[in-house]
Amino acid sequence: MQPLDPHKLPVHLAVIMDGNGRWAQQRMLKRIVGHQRGAETVKMVVEQAWLLGINYLTLFAFSSENWSRPALEVRALMTLLKKYIRQETARMMRKNIRYNVIGNRSDLPGDVNETLDEAIRTTSLNTGMVLTLALSYGGRQELSRAAAQMARDAVSGKIAPEAITPDLFDTYLDTGGLPDPDFLIRTSGEMRISNFLLWQLAYTELYFTDINWPDFTINELHKALADFQSRERRFGKTSDQLTDRGTLSND
Ligand code: IPE
Ligand code: IPE
Ligand code: MG
Repeated sequence: MQPLDPHKLPVHLAVIMDGNGRWAQQRMLKRIVGHQRGAETVKMVVEQAWLLGINYLTLFAFSSENWSRPALEVRALMTLLKKYIRQETARMMRKNIRYNVIGNRSDLPGDVNETLDEAIRTTSLNTGMVLTLALSYGGRQELSRAAAQMARDAVSGKIAPEAITPDLFDTYLDTGGLPDPDFLIRTSGEMRISNFLLWQLAYTELYFTDINWPDFTINELHKALADFQSRERRFGKTSDQLTDRGTLSND
C-alpha cells in the first residue's frame, strides 16, 4: 500500500458510489445484490476515513433522478438504507461519528425518515467525523430550493438582495456548515458529476476509477488518496504564489 502523508489528507472527502448494478449484471445477479455488496464497501470506506482522521465524508447514496428507476429497485434501496442505518448506528456511536443527511427528505418514505431521524438524534452529540448521506439529492434541486428561500427572505425583509454573496448563499444550502469537498471519487468509469454538489465542487479535485463500487477496496482508496496528495491546488493563483518564492517577490 502506498504511504500517505497524514498532513495532506482531504478534510472533506465526497464519493459518488457508482456501478453496483453493472457489478451484479456482469455476474448474472440481480441489481439489488450489487447494492447489498455496495453497502459492504460503504462500511469499509467509513471505517478507513475514520481511521485516517478525515473530518467529513459525504456519500451520494440516492439521487433525485434515481426516483425514476423501476419501483422494485427503489423499494429495495430504501429497505437496504433502513437496514444499514439501523445496523450501523451502534458502530457510529463507538466511533464518535455524527450522521447528517442532505437532499429532499420530504420525498423519502415515512419509515425511512423515522429511521434517519432516530440515527441523527442518537449521534447528534458526537464530535468526530461527520458522515453525510446524500439522499433524494440533486444539486440543481438544492440550488433552486436555496434560491426560493432567499427570495422569501428578501420579500419578508429578512435579507437585502445586495447581501446575497457566495458566503451567504452557502448558508442556504443543505450543506450549510460543511466545508466544500477537497476530493471527489467516482467509481465505475463514468466521468460525470450527475447533479451532485454542483455549487460545492467548484474547486474540488476530481478522481475517476473504472472499478465498480462493490469492488472498490482499501487499496483503491489509498491509491486515490495518494493521487490527491500529488495534486497542486492553486485556486486560481500561480504555482509560484503557493511557494515561498511567491511570497518573497512581487513580480
Ligand atoms: C450506484 O450504482 C447506486 C445508486 C445509484 C443507487 P448503480 O445502481 O447506479 O449501478 P450502475 O451504474 O447501474 O452499474
Ligand atoms: C449517481 O449515479 C447517483 C448515485 C451514485 C447515488 P447514477 O448511476 O444515478 O448516475 P448516472 O445516471 O449514470 O449519471
Ligand atoms: Mg449508476
